[in-house]
Amino acid sequence: MAVGTGGIHGSLTGRERTFHRDEIIVSKTDLKGRITYANDVFLRISGYSEAELLGQPHNIVRHSDMPRCVYKLLWTRIEAGSEIFAYVINRAKDGDHYWVFAHVTPVFGNPDSGNGRTITGYHSSRRVPARPAVEAAAGLYAALRAEEARHADRNAAMAASGAMLEKLLRDKGTSYDEFVFSL
Ligand SMILES: Cc1cc2nc3c(=O)[nH]c(=O)nc-3n(C[C@H](O)[C@H](O)[C@H](O)COP(=O)(O)O)c2cc1C
Repeated sequence: MAVGTGGIHGSLTGRERTFHRDEIIVSKTDLKGRITYANDVFLRISGYSEAELLGQPHNIVRHSDMPRCVYKLLWTRIEAGSEIFAYVINRAKDGDHYWVFAHVTPVFGNPDSGNGRTITGYHSSRRVPARPAVEAAAGLYAALRAEEARHADRNAAMAASGAMLEKLLRDKGTSYDEFVFSL
């Protein structure tokens, strides 16, 4: 798989990290996506200490191969109170990368306090993805990123790759959720 170089935190190594199939990477965020909790598996695989992660925006592990439209879909879904599953490539502190199959969901307030449907934060757990799914996701993401690269403006890029993803799903006659679970 081709991995680009550069990115917001410096150069990528092209080295892939993996974790055990019984392990789960867990994090929680506030409403703005700032990290409020990271489990030990997350610390180990990302290479960050707890002190380095807590309070930071979750894009601290963003990898430049991820299309913007996937994160747009993620935020649209969770802010509307729904869950989402996605294949994600993340960047470790030293520039290594790791693939996950992620589930992200809103956390709702305590019903006893009268705000049962109020979203108070977000939660994500991630497991090791199957290899064929990673290959499929990497191919799709490369195409979406290429579409984004044709637009200088960030929002225009996101709209263009979002339209490309929608067209692909329409042509396949499938929904995003069905598609993700077919990979
Ligand atoms: C609970 C939760 C977990 C997230 N996990 C990740 C993650 O593992 N990697 C990532 O790049 N973005 C993750 N995000 C999305 C980021 O908040 C952000 O939208 C994304 O990195 C894109 O950043 P950008 O808009 O600065 O490009 C997560 C968001 C939430 C709410």
